[in-house]
Amino acid sequence: MSDLLIENLGEVATPVGTTSRRGPEQRRVERLGDTVVLCRQGEIAFVGPPAELEQAHGPLPEAERLDGRGGTLLPGLVDPHTHLPWAGSREEEFAERLAGKSYLEIAAGGGGILSTVRATRSASEAELTGGVLGRLDRMLELGTTTAEAKSGYGLTRADELKQLRAIRQASQSHPVDLVATLLAAHETPPEYREDRQRYLDLVCREIIPAAAEEGLASFCDVFCEEGVFTVEESRQVLTAGREHALAPRLHADEFVDSGGAELAAELGALSADHLIAVSDAGIEALAAAGVTAVLLPGTSFFLMKHTYAPARRLVEAGVPIALATDCNPGSSNTESLPMVFVLAVYELGLTIEEALTASTLNAACCLGLGEKIGSIEVGKQADLVLLDEPNLLHLAYHYGVNPVAAVIKRGAVVHSAPSRRS
Ligand code: NIG
Ligand code: FE
Repeated sequence: MSDLLIENLGEVATPVGTTSRRGPEQRRVERLGDTVVLCRQGEIAFVGPPAELEQAHGPLPEAERLDGRGGTLLPGLVDPHTHLPWAGSREEEFAERLAGKSYLEIAAGGGGILSTVRATRSASEAELTGGVLGRLDRMLELGTTTAEAKSGYGLTRADELKQLRAIRQASQSHPVDLVATLLAAHETPPEYREDRQRYLDLVCREIIPAAAEEGLASFCDVFCEEGVFTVEESRQVLTAGREHALAPRLHADEFVDSGGAELAAELGALSADHLIAVSDAGIEALAAAGVTAVLLPGTSFFLMKHTYAPARRLVEAGVPIALATDCNPGSSNTESLPMVFVLAVYELGLTIEEALTASTLNAACCLGLGEKIGSIEVGKQADLVLLDEPNLLHLAYHYGVNPVAAVIKRGAVVHSAPSRRS
């Protein structure tokens, strides 16, 4: 594999380190002018001024060169919360929401998650894999190089495993790396509505052990929410997951404060996600336990809630923040981390630098990948995204466009946008 030298950059912008950044550290981002980046054997081998590259590595006549055209180089974006393997569409439900029905009303009437469950159960593994690959193509074009992906639309042993296999299959044949999460406790399936504990037993005694035995998932998640699973039920599921080496993460306090953040802290979860309704006590608990808050402002936007997670209070309390799309057909139908970045700056009130750390290093760390990806530093995997504008500010300043000029995965250019006039 030949060396790749990225030159003529306007700016290299990156957080630094291998562990999550919190409080004031979250906005400490290096923004380097006059910098070239050398990728060698899939890793970052040099970051610095061109003259120093020459001293350290000689003239490199064999290297492939990528002309940065004055753009901005960032670490590849990392999306730590998605529901990628699904079938069907929820466009009719979207029309109902536009006509005034709420997400929870639709769910209570048998639509919502359960409508995607019906479609996903009917789909083959190959069909689900195809759906994931299409979404991964869009993610890559938008700068994502690694993502988490959850099951949770199967809700039987066979259908949850089918979703996890589709995640694995898609990841093996696409440049974007996926890390899988078992979310069998996303909802109680209709056939268990009269006896939720029987479904929880199935999840804990059959689905979790089967997913772990096949090595299909790294994490276990649960939708801890009023009307879905209680804190006690969520604890059962996540504890069973942990017994099978699936690290806990959870959907917490999305619509109502139900103590999900406190449970995440108690279990030492890798992340507590959503948190729109988190309490002050929940924030304190997350900070004390070092749990990352994965914020999903695309969900507030898509559900037209006009209420966003209290990002500033979380940062001020010292909770590390990561950002994710929540990509799913019902509550956030987007693959776009640049869109989420814009919402994070405009609606969550994160600074540009905080939002960058949240969508790179902190996102990587809450997936257990902080040693390997999430920043532009020598020795890390060369996962990079080139933006076509000259500095990081443009990622929020020029909104509603795809800012990506090229994407590099393990030191190889895996996507180039057609070049534009500036
Ligand atoms: O993260 N909150 C639960 N799960 C998804 C929604 C899934 C759906 O509506 O299909 C979420 O928002
Ligand atoms: Fe979600």
